[in-house]
Formats: sequence, structure tokens, C-alpha cells
Amino acid sequence: MVDIDWDNLGFDVTPTKSMFRATCLENSKWEHGGLIPFGNIELSPAANVLNYGQGAFEGVKAFRTAKGNVVLFRVDKNAARMAFSTKRLCIPEMDTDFFIDAVTKVVKDNIEYVPPHGQGSLYIRPVVWGTSAGIGVKPASEYTFMIFVTPVGPYFKKGINPLSLKITSQFHRAAPKGIGNIKAIGNYSASLYPLTEAKKEGFDEVIYLDAAREEIIEEVGSANFFIFQDGKIKTPSLSGSILGGVTRDSVCLVAREILGISVEETDIYIKDIENSDEVFCTGTAVVVCPIGRVTFKGKTHVINKNTMGPITKKIRETILSIQNEEIKDTHNWLRHI
Ligand code: COI
Repeated sequence: MVDIDWDNLGFDVTPTKSMFRATCLENSKWEHGGLIPFGNIELSPAANVLNYGQGAFEGVKAFRTAKGNVVLFRVDKNAARMAFSTKRLCIPEMDTDFFIDAVTKVVKDNIEYVPPHGQGSLYIRPVVWGTSAGIGVKPASEYTFMIFVTPVGPYFKKGINPLSLKITSQFHRAAPKGIGNIKAIGNYSASLYPLTEAKKEGFDEVIYLDAAREEIIEEVGSANFFIFQDGKIKTPSLSGSILGGVTRDSVCLVAREILGISVEETDIYIKDIENSDEVFCTGTAVVVCPIGRVTFKGKTHVINKNTMGPITKKIRETILSIQNEEIKDTHNWLRHI
């Protein structure tokens, strides 16, 4: 038995038993690789990823379900997105079967680190980098793919209490026709300064607007954005600079097909927040988290008296119940380990 305080898991890295590692040359296919002990790795200071940020990652979760099984949630969607991200970054395109097979191997070998049912999940982080040494700006000649895992609890320190977010027009997350729609590591480094400044002001996260007109809401730094308004769920449409979240897609399907709520993927303006009954954000890490306050240019709007609304709660519980095999997995989203 591993010695972990399951009752107090946060979103931190706990060392586990093993991780997956594979390498691939430029213009080659991902086909080899295997498990190695969890630990530090060695890289040249001239590695492409360290200088020019050629890297992409994924976030997947495994759950120990009410039936006692260990399952992966929608790993095929993560595999497809990794293929999309790698292609855009000139990394050898990740083969989806290779990706799923590698994720499965790591979870099997670290099965003891999957938290007990209802006490969190095993967060799986596949990440790929250009690792050959080079100084000219060009794609690396060699790539490394690694997967590490860590047991996690809630992403935000305040758990599932409503978040207080700040809309920024001082910073953009992603440019039109840029790389906002892939899971590039650089997108997250661009969000660190706005996030740090927002936290100093007492906010939990930042909401970014579209870079062209600064009128339409795009996403939260670590999650996608939703409102519930006039009996409909609305989320920004995937315009090209928004990440197509796996949980975002799951929420749209759950709302439409299980809860019978209509969903619109559309433009959401700042003023729409003032007319919303509920506001929430979604992601693999955050799951479904209520937003209780949104501040723009010093003016704060409080949503649903700063409590989690009934629709947000229902959606959150439905997603978690599917992940935990408490209700039927009608879309075959779970893959048993
Ligand atoms: C996830 O939700 O898994 C993500 O990748 C967001 C992250 C930056 C924590």
C-alpha cells in the first residue's frame, strides 16, 4: 500500500512508481518506448523545448469507480487532440493508438496511486518536447514523449466554492490564427503573469477576451467558459483561438442528451454575464466549477448570490457520476484498465 493522505489531496505532484518515455526522430513514427522509474530527466541546455518552447501536453484522468474498476475518461479525445497539437508544432504527429497504449501502461503500473473511490483521481500528464540540441529556430531533430501520473484532488484551493474571476483587456491569451486551439506549453506560460497579478488582487483566475476586438469572451486560463441564461447553456464557439476541451465537449453532450437543456456554441459578450443565471468553467483538472463573481474594469458582478447554481450542480454531478460508473456510460466514454 502506498503511503498517501487520501483525505487531503490537492492539485500537486506526488512522486509515483513509474513513468513512460519514448523518443522519435524528426520525420519518423512514434513506435517504441517503455516504463522507467519516476524521477528527474537530463536534457541539453540547448534542447529545442527549453529555448523555443516546442512542446505540447495533455491532461487525462483515471478514476476508481463505485464498481471497483479503474477507468480512463475519454482518452481517445485526448489522443486526437495530441495528434492535432503535435502536427501544428512540427512534432512527429502522435499516433492515437500509441498514445492510448502508453497511457494505459503507466496507469496499470501505478494503479496503487489511483485514489479510493470518491476521493480524487489519478491525473495523467502526457507531454512531448523537441529535445535535440540546436540553436537555430527550426524544428528539433529528436523528440521525447513522457507520461507521468499523480493522484489529485480539487484544482482550486477553495475546492468547489464559487470562483472570483477577473476579465482582462490588458493581456490576450491567444491570437487569431495562432496556437490557442492546441495544447501548446507556451500558451500556459503566457498566462502566468496575468494570473499572478490577478491573484495579488484576490482573484482566482483570469477570463480572456478575443484578441481582435476585445469584446467576446474566449476562455479562462486553465478552463473553458460557460453561462446558463434564458434556460439555455451557452459556451464560446471554437473560433480558432479557443482550446477544444474534452470536458467542454462532455458538458455540451450531457446537457443536450441527458439533461435535455439546449446548448448554444456562440459569441458571449461581457454584458451577457450580467444577464446570466449561472456561470461556470470546465476542464479535466477543474471538472465543473461555479463562478460567483466576475470583475471587469473595477466593477464586480455577483452571480447567483455567489453560490453554486442548480444547473451547474446537476452538470457537475452527472459528469462525475459517469466518470465513477454511478450512472450508465451511454456514450462509451470509459475505458477499463
Ligand atoms: C487540464 O484541465 O487538464 C489542463 O490541462 C489544464 C491545466 C493547465 C491544469
